[in-house]
Amino acid sequence: MQYRAFSPSGEKVSLLGLGTMRLPVMGKDETAIDEEKAIRLIRYAVDKGVNYVDTAYMYHGGNSEVVLGRALKDGYREKVFLADKMPIWLAEKAGGVEALFEEQFRRLDVEFIDFYLVHNLTKSIWQDVKEKNVLPFLEKMKAEGRIGKIGFSFHDELDVFKEIVDEYPWEFCQIQLNFMDKEFQAGVAGLKYAAEKGLPVVIMEPLKGGKLVKALPDSVAALWESFPVKRTPAEWALRWVADFPEVLTILSGMSEIEEVDENIRILENASPGSLTEEEKSLIGKVSAEYKNLIKASCTACRYCMPCPKGIDIPRVLDQYNQWHMYRSVRESRRQYGFLKKGSRPVDCIDCKACEEQCPQHLPVSDIMREMVDTFGE
Ligand SMILES: NC(=O)c1ccc[n+]([C@@H]2O[C@H](COP(=O)([O-])OP(=O)(O)OC[C@H]3O[C@@H](n4cnc5c(N)ncnc54)[C@H](OP(=O)(O)O)[C@@H]3O)[C@@H](O)[C@H]2O)c1
Repeated sequence: MQYRAFSPSGEKVSLLGLGTMRLPVMGKDETAIDEEKAIRLIRYAVDKGVNYVDTAYMYHGGNSEVVLGRALKDGYREKVFLADKMPIWLAEKAGGVEALFEEQFRRLDVEFIDFYLVHNLTKSIWQDVKEKNVLPFLEKMKAEGRIGKIGFSFHDELDVFKEIVDEYPWEFCQIQLNFMDKEFQAGVAGLKYAAEKGLPVVIMEPLKGGKLVKALPDSVAALWESFPVKRTPAEWALRWVADFPEVLTILSGMSEIEEVDENIRILENASPGSLTEEEKSLIGKVSAEYKNLIKASCTACRYCMPCPKGIDIPRVLDQYNQWHMYRSVRESRRQYGFLKKGSRPVDCIDCKACEEQCPQHLPVSDIMREMVDTFGE
């Protein structure tokens, strides 16, 4: 296993980290973790040298924390850095920030969380975090020895990222990064910005939640095949991320032992700056090919909004495009499940008000129907 140092304190973190948002489940119910298999997988990864495990209050409906906590019994807790996240938007329902925090410790059944993140920061959630004095509370928990480093995970635009980095003395952060998202959210520019400020960066979604490795479109598979050096799509994608020296650890949500083995093998041999210009050019061509598969040329101008039924039309169009580009059933279903009840494609009343406003003349109501046909209600 390759390790990278967490500066300035110098802890050695494995370049492959284990995300527990995509543990093996039984059937289609994402909350029904296959506990035996998941515990075996987590312990296997740790035995092979993975020493950073990441969970969150909401993963698998709360069961990720519980199962991870069980996996870390029998001496495994001492072998890893444990990362968990505070979903501030759920705090009220959970009885407040403190109650939610305590519930996480109960679920995990641990005394200490090494890396504690404020989850999913966006402009508005960041505002909430400040208004609800979450950080002074976390500082107190740190002083009391309950948590280690304080960081945040991020899902908004680059300028918001920079603002958040600059407004608090964070100890680390977590961003989404893969070769399709180099200019999405924080992206490569955010990675470099954080690193310049001395902030270690944890990467999530290096395989775009599995979309870059499953059910490849023929044209993408042909491009990978055309290159003289043969690598799996997972290897190309993980190597692309590992090539950045600014990356501390790369979290992958592995659900099979074979994936753990493969990802360890890949990252053992991926040193920063090792991709050649030809290899980077190939990855650039693959990225362009995926973009060719975009079906609805939505620019997210939001002229279609507001929808009388409250449907977030640009978001549904993005999901529609993602489905056509990557054909990832599990991830597309998961994303579709995040749409607000009462404001889903099935609630479209076919009024076509959005279509009248759309500068791209997109057949939005047809797309809504196609989404219902594909993913149900
Ligand atoms: N803070 C946040 O807001 C946030 C958001 C997203 C993620 N995260 C964290 O970051 C972690 C990593 O993100 P991610 O789970 O999206 O990672 P990812 O590596 O992009 O995607 C994981 C999926 O890729 C597939 N996979 C992994 N290795 C593979 C291999 N060698 N060959 C083929 N398929 C492979 C698996 O699909 P199958 O399961 O279908 O086999 C797995 O579910 C999450 O688990 C979570 O802990 C945090």
